[in-house]
Amino acid sequence: MQNKQFELDEIKADIINNEVCPSLKESATQLVFGSGNPDADIVFIGEAPGKKEDEFGEPFVGASGQFLNDMLQSIHLNRNQIYITNIVKYRPPNNRDPLPEEKNEFLPYLERQLNVINPLLIVTLGRHSTNVFLPGLSISQIHGQPKRIRWQSNLTNKELDVSGGKRIDAMQGTGEQRTEVYKKYTEGVAEPVTKQGTMIVGGVSSFARKQAGKALVILPLYHPAAALYNGSLRKTLEQDFKNINKTLQLIREGK
Ligand code: URA
Repeated sequence: MQNKQFELDEIKADIINNEVCPSLKESATQLVFGSGNPDADIVFIGEAPGKKEDEFGEPFVGASGQFLNDMLQSIHLNRNQIYITNIVKYRPPNNRDPLPEEKNEFLPYLERQLNVINPLLIVTLGRHSTNVFLPGLSISQIHGQPKRIRWQSNLTNKELDVSGGKRIDAMQGTGEQRTEVYKKYTEGVAEPVTKQGTMIVGGVSSFARKQAGKALVILPLYHPAAALYNGSLRKTLEQDFKNINKTLQLIREGK
């Protein structure tokens, strides 16, 4: 089996070679693909690179990144123990919100990134990232509450390998992700999230299984940039951060 960093490098190269989001690529300095530990149990997903990230080619290296580092430290984690990326991987001009079509263009690549890393827990930072996995829910109502979902971007990327090496060129969708009904973590799910990948009810072909989506646990949090200069949001985010280790523990115990 190829190592994870090699596979991640291939996905990064595909984003460039497939000319994903040419207009953002044109205005950005460089691609900001992701950084951290490819073997991490936790993946953090932000919105899109800002000025500093665009300059350095790494996610969360500006003011909100420093705040994120402080919060990680408060729960005894550091950047080498997690993996971090964004939904959109080029900086939008003047840090404007990413457009729906820009988010959709990157989803197949995000899905591949998550398939390679195969984390136990995904922490979404802010509403853009949260709504990719939990569409229609408001971050102000669900922050800090882990949810189980089955998720699959509606594949547009011909390179996405879903069936033991076979390509599925015929399966090109609209680019919208598909999320099955989400549940509070404690409400349980048909199958556990494991490091071995999605466990599926017997008798279903591997192709059909993967079509049904990947079992994920999502912990939605406020975006550090929103909380940085807002006293009450900041307290909430600091409090919610403590749920990261608690949730991870529950997942590890298979609860
Ligand atoms: N905000 C984000 O959402 N991502 C970054 O990488 C930096 C700031």
